[in-house]
Amino acid sequence: MGETNGPFGFPTEAIDPNSPIPMYLLPQGCGVGRDGGLWMRGQLVSDLVKEFGSPLFIYDEEQIRSRARELKTHFGSDVAYASKAFLCKAMARLVSEEGLHLDVASGGELAVALSSGFPPERIVMHGNNKSIAELEAAISAGVGRIVIDSFNEIDRLERLVSKDDPVKVWIRVTPGVEAHTHEFVMTGQDDSKFGFGLVSGDAKLALERLRVSEKLKLVGIHAHIGSQIFALESFMKEVEMLAPFFASAEVEELNLGGGLGVPYVAGEPIIEFGDWAASLKESARLAGIPSTARIIVEPGRSLVGPAAITVYEVGTIKEIPGIRTYVSVDGGMSDNPRPVLYDSGYEIFAVENVLARRDRPVTIVGKHCESGDVLVRDGQLPSSTKVGDLIATPVTGAYGYSMASNYNKVGRPAVVFVNNQGYRLVLRRETVSDMLALDID
Ligand code: LLP
Repeated sequence: MGETNGPFGFPTEAIDPNSPIPMYLLPQGCGVGRDGGLWMRGQLVSDLVKEFGSPLFIYDEEQIRSRARELKTHFGSDVAYASKAFLCKAMARLVSEEGLHLDVASGGELAVALSSGFPPERIVMHGNNKSIAELEAAISAGVGRIVIDSFNEIDRLERLVSKDDPVKVWIRVTPGVEAHTHEFVMTGQDDSKFGFGLVSGDAKLALERLRVSEKLKLVGIHAHIGSQIFALESFMKEVEMLAPFFASAEVEELNLGGGLGVPYVAGEPIIEFGDWAASLKESARLAGIPSTARIIVEPGRSLVGPAAITVYEVGTIKEIPGIRTYVSVDGGMSDNPRPVLYDSGYEIFAVENVLARRDRPVTIVGKHCESGDVLVRDGQLPSSTKVGDLIATPVTGAYGYSMASNYNKVGRPAVVFVNNQGYRLVLRRETVSDMLALDID
């Protein structure tokens, strides 16, 4: 093994930083035209930008659907898409059509799901601090499962639910697993705001309370150890830690959460759903979990992350001799705060010159009023890149739009879905009047 300077310790010595964007990082439906321009499922990406403006999120809808179907081949319908990764009505409808369940973590996500017509019985309601109003909304909608996260929540639900109409619940457990990922997205360790600690004994106490509840019907156990995890051993450890508790709970549903990592930059691996499923199932078998148990997963990023790109227009190029070249685009930390929050790496490439060698070191920055507003710190673009060009970051389908803000009153971008039949706008661009609508004169 050579030098390992990738963020997750993967070997990077074989990667030529000047090479064109590796096609495997782009959505499956992408191809390159004879003139070097990027296409997605029969649509010229630069034409979509002409029509809908920039910055623009473009999703390959067929890819999301085929990934959803792939998940179903491994887990049956025991898959809940974690909608925090990306949610709008069109996305909720897609998830419904593909027959998956939907994880929502707030009243807002619940409302979007319900307004899309998503079947409430296939909704899982999460949250470490659900308000009374959120719990009431979930109960009256008739969501399929409520995931209980604290003793206070047991009290609250006991007050809100009627004996005649009990609700089905899962206990969220913190299994004491330190997943190999960024500290901010690690959730399974003992010191966590989420769930009931297994090691502290709180999980057992919660179980005892729920066993005697006439209103809260315990049907399963839930855990989620973190996000952007490449090490399958972390998931296997999770199963091993949960198994005795799961057995003691005498329930049938074991939700192991989401968290599967996806490659963002050259050198990071692709972990197949099949390998994830096989390792979860094999570790469940080894831990003595009966084959009748339903192993449920809740992926977000791995379903939608790789299916989208964000296209920006280059506005200024500032070369500071001997220091660096800043390429400013018309978006930034407002449409993708991940580089700022987690130091996440992204690739960058020229949309109208996809196969060109990226021989110019650049730093891609946004238009916000802070120096930290960086999208790609040490990126590479073709030296021909000029003001007015379209450039794009791939793998922006998860936690980009969903964490977007309108900082500096820069409106959130529009979102387009492209499929084999055509394309459609699923979220229009946020306008100044949208922002002004909140102001009280
Ligand atoms: N289930 C639960 C209870 C979760 O909290 C999450 C993510 C998921 C499932 C889905 O995890 P995924 O498959 O997407 O890794 N904003 C961060 C990620 C935060 C993840 C929060 N919870 C980021 O941009 O990396």
